[in-house]
Amino acid sequence: MKIGIGNDHVAVEYKNEISKYIQEKYGYEVMNFGTDSTERFNYPIAGEAVANAVITGEVDKGIVICGTGVGISLAANKVNGIRCVTCSEPYSARLSREHNDTNMLAFGARVVGIELAKMIVDAWLSGEYEGGRHQVRIDMLKDIEKKQK
Ligand code: RB5
Repeated sequence: MKIGIGNDHVAVEYKNEISKYIQEKYGYEVMNFGTDSTERFNYPIAGEAVANAVITGEVDKGIVICGTGVGISLAANKVNGIRCVTCSEPYSARLSREHNDTNMLAFGARVVGIELAKMIVDAWLSGEYEGGRHQVRIDMLKDIEKKQK
């Protein structure tokens, strides 16, 4: 399993801590698409980069972090095929995998503490898409994308 991770200047420490956590706990490879500097860095760059890596298959899933998790998730969700959830608790993170087949997770370094962030990551990584009745809704999301072209 390969995880792409991205962040802006607000979330450099969170990116490093979460990358280390995923590598040590799960043994997954983590590819860094974010900034390593605390100089101002515009979140759409990292959101789009991770999203593209998910869509091309360069990574299996993506995690993006900015101050609130909002801006970077909005950027990711602009890429066709991305379903990025912004979470500040683990319940929605797990359900977003089980029901919505999310392929990206976002959270805010200014919103959740690092230990809660790890719980959100755990819930999201361990959640498995259930398919079945949920697939028709995922297909409807894809139809919306097709109509935009
Ligand atoms: C940067 O100040 C901040 O706007 C950004 O990290 C993020 O919270 C945007 O949604």
